[in-house]
Amino acid sequence: MSFVCISDFCKRFATHTVFENISCEIKQGEFITLLGPSGCGKSTLLRCIAGLTTVDHGTLTVNGEDITNQIARLRGIAMVFQSYALFPNMSVYDNVAFGLKMQKIPKAQREPRVREILEMVELESYHNRYPQQLSGGQCQRVALARSLVVRPRILLLDEPLSALDARIRKNLRDQIRRIQQELKLTTIFVTHDQEEALTLSDRILLMNDGQIVQTGTAEEIYTEPASAFVAGFIGNYNLLDRQQARQVLGLDISHQLAIRPESIYVRESGRDYGGKDLIPASGIVTGHNLLGNVIRYHLDITGVPVIVDLLNRSSERLFTRGSELDLLFNRDEIREVS
Ligand SMILES: Nc1ncnc2c1ncn2[C@@H]1O[C@H](COP(=O)(O)OP(=O)(O)OP(=O)(O)O)[C@@H](O)[C@H]1O
Ligand SMILES: [Mg+2]
Repeated sequence: MSFVCISDFCKRFATHTVFENISCEIKQGEFITLLGPSGCGKSTLLRCIAGLTTVDHGTLTVNGEDITNQIARLRGIAMVFQSYALFPNMSVYDNVAFGLKMQKIPKAQREPRVREILEMVELESYHNRYPQQLSGGQCQRVALARSLVVRPRILLLDEPLSALDARIRKNLRDQIRRIQQELKLTTIFVTHDQEEALTLSDRILLMNDGQIVQTGTAEEIYTEPASAFVAGFIGNYNLLDRQQARQVLGLDISHQLAIRPESIYVRESGRDYGGKDLIPASGIVTGHNLLGNVIRYHLDITGVPVIVDLLNRSSERLFTRGSELDLLFNRDEIREVS
C-alpha cells in the first residue's frame, strides 16, 4: 500500500462542487507537484489533506492509518502557504522554535533542532532578525524552517514561491528540492507554473476543473499528453482539429492532433533525417518571439496558425516575416488527443 492514499475525496462549498471522487496514491519520500489552472481546486485539496477543511466524502490514510477525521494538529502534516504568515513580533529563531514550544519540547532539545534547520535553509546568521528585516525569499525560508523543525511526515507547499522574483524563485525551489531529498520527505507542492512542475517533481498530478486529468513523470506528461487540455497546458503544443489536420498534414483523424513546436523541422539541404517518417508542408512566417535560447516562429500553413521552435544559433539567419519555409513533421512525434 502507498504511504498516502486519497480515495474518493469530494468537497462542496454550498452548491459549488470543487471536486468529486478524487483518488490518488503517493509513495513515501516522493515529491509530487499538483499542477493546474487557477480555481481548479489545488489549495482546497491540500487543505483537506492537512485537515484545515473537512471533506464531504472519502478517506485519507497515511502509512495505513485512517486520518480522515483526525484534527489537523495531530496529523503530522505541515503546510507552507504563499503568504509567509510569520509572527512579526518574534525573531527568526523564535518563529522557528514556536512549533517545538507548542509540543512542550524542553529548551535544551529545542536549541540544536532549531540551529540544524536554520543551517539547512542557510539562515543561521539571521536568527536574531525580525521578519520585517528580511527579504521575501528569506521570510519564505523561515516559513519553511518552521514547518520542517517539527519533523512532519508530509510537507504541503501551496505556491510558496509565487510572491518571489524569478531569480530567487529558482534558487529557493532548488533549495526546497535539495532539503526534501536530504530528509526523504513526502512532499506535495502546488503550483500553476508548468516549468516549475517539470523541473522539480518525481511525479506530476495535473488537475483541471476538480479532477486529476493525468499523473506521471514530467517526461511522460510532456511527451504523452492524455488530452488536448494537458497538451495545451503543459507544453505550448500546436493543436489541430480534424479539418486542420487534413489541411496541414493530409491526415484523417477522429479527434485532435497535438504537435510540439520543437518537433517540427525546417528542411535543410544535405541533412540526414535518419530514416524518419516525415510529412512535408510549406509555411509562411508571420512573426517570431525571442525566448532566450529558442526562437518561436509563428507560421501560416494553408491558413492554419502553427508555431515552430528553433534553437537560437548565432550562425543561423533569422527568418523574416513573409519568408516561405519548407517544413517536415515527424510522424512519430504527432499525438492524437481527445
Ligand atoms: N471557503 C470557500 N468557500 C466557497 N468557495 C470556495 C472556498 N474556497 C475555495 N472555493 C472555491 O473552490 C474552487 C477551488 O478553489 P481553490 O482555492 O482550491 O483553487 P486553486 O486551484 O488553489 O486556485 P489558485 O491557483 O487560484 O490558487 C474555486 O472555485 C473557489 O472559488
Ligand atoms: Mg490555490
